Amino acid sequence: MDNNQYLMISAYGSYFAEIPHYFVTAPGRVNLIGEHTDYNDGFVLPIAIDRRTYATARPMYGDLVKAKSVGFDDMEEFNIREDLKKRDRWVDYLMGVVDEMKKDSYNLNGFWALFRSDVPIGSGLSSSAALEVASGLLIASLFEHDIDRLELAKIARRAEQNFVGVNCGIMDQMATLLCAEDNALFIDCRDQSYKQVPVAFEDAGFMVVDTKVKRELDNSAYNERRSQCEAAVAAIAGKKKSVAALRDADIKDLEGIAGDVDEVIIKRARHIISENDRVLKAVKMLEAKDAGGFGSLMYESHESLQHDYQVSCDELDRVVEIARKTDGVLGARMTGAGFGGCAVALVKKGREQAFADAVGAAFAPPESEDTETDKKNEQDQPPLPEVFSVKPVEGASVQKLDIKS
Ligand code: GLA
Repeated sequence: MDNNQYLMISAYGSYFAEIPHYFVTAPGRVNLIGEHTDYNDGFVLPIAIDRRTYATARPMYGDLVKAKSVGFDDMEEFNIREDLKKRDRWVDYLMGVVDEMKKDSYNLNGFWALFRSDVPIGSGLSSSAALEVASGLLIASLFEHDIDRLELAKIARRAEQNFVGVNCGIMDQMATLLCAEDNALFIDCRDQSYKQVPVAFEDAGFMVVDTKVKRELDNSAYNERRSQCEAAVAAIAGKKKSVAALRDADIKDLEGIAGDVDEVIIKRARHIISENDRVLKAVKMLEAKDAGGFGSLMYESHESLQHDYQVSCDELDRVVEIARKTDGVLGARMTGAGFGGCAVALVKKGREQAFADAVGAAFAPPESEDTETDKKNEQDQPPLPEVFSVKPVEGASVQKLDIKS
C-alpha cells in the first residue's frame, strides 16, 4: 500500500468510521500541443502527470450519498434518486457524473466517499476531469458496472457539459483515463480514436510553469470561442459543402470568406486550422525524437493562441518570452483553456534549474531599500509562479481494497 492510499484509508476511517472498499486515482494532464482543437473535431496530444485526484468509498444501504473532500469544509449529502441540482461547489462534478450515469440507466445506490486532490484547481491541468473521472470509476466499481474507458470519458464529459455548464471537448477526460506511462496520447477528436506516442527525447524533458493566475471569465470566454468557430464553419460550409468542422477546412478557405465575416472569426479559424497542422507535425517530431523541432512548434502554437485565438494572458506571455531567452529551453506555450493557469516548456537536461531561476527572477517583486516596506509588499504580492518537471504517467487506476477491521 503506498503512502497516499494509506492516508486516504485512515482519513476515511476518521470521517466515516467505516472501511472503504475501493481506491481510485485519476491524474491531471498537460496538453503538449493542440489547444482548443478538440471541440473542432481536431487533434490533441496530452500527457497525464503525477498530480492526482484520489478517491475511496464504500457502498451503503439506502439512497444517501455522503461525500467529503479533504480541503473543503462541508460534508456534502444528496439522495441518489432525487433530481440533482448544481450547488456551485466541488461536489457538482460528482453529482454531474451520477446524473449522467442515471440517464444511462446504470443501477446506483447510496455510498460514502472521500476525495483528495493535488491537481491545482483552475490551472489548466484538468483538475475537473480528474475529479469527474475519479467519481465515475469509483461509482462503476462500487456497483459493479463494467464500463469501457472511452465510454466513461464520454459520461464524464457530459457531466461537465450538462451539469457544470462548460461546453468542453473530450481531450481532458480521455487523457485522464487513457494516457500511458512514458507516452503522449494522440487523439483524433472526430472519432475519438487514439494512439500512444512514446516521449523519448534523448536530452530534453517537459516542465510546467504554474503562473498561479486563476482562470477568470473562463466559461463564458470558452463558450464564446466555441461559437466563433461555429460561425467560421457556417461561413465556409456555405461555399464548400464538405466542411463540417474546422478540422475539414484549410487556410485557403479563409480567403473565400474574408469579406463575409468579422476579422475576429477569421483569426479564430486560422488558429484552429494551423494548430491541427502543428499537432500532426509534432507527432512526427516526437516519433523522430526531434526535440528542437517539437519545441519550435510549441512556440508557434503559443503565438497563434496569443494573437489569433486570444486566450493567453500577460503572465503566460512573459513565461514564454523568458523561455525564448533562456539557453537550453527549446520551446514553450500556454496549455489548457488559457486566461491564466500553466505554461509547458521543453527544456534540455541540466537546464531545468536555470529555467526555473529565470522565471523566479522575472516574477520576483522589485526590492526596495526599506525592509519593512519589502515585508508589506510581499504580503500584497500575488503568489510567485511554481516551476516543476513532469513525466508522462499512467492514466486512472482502480483498486479493490481488502482491509480487515
Ligand atoms: C479545456 C477543455 C478541453 C479543451 C481545452 C483547450 O481544458 O476542457 O476540452 O478544449 O480546454 O484545449
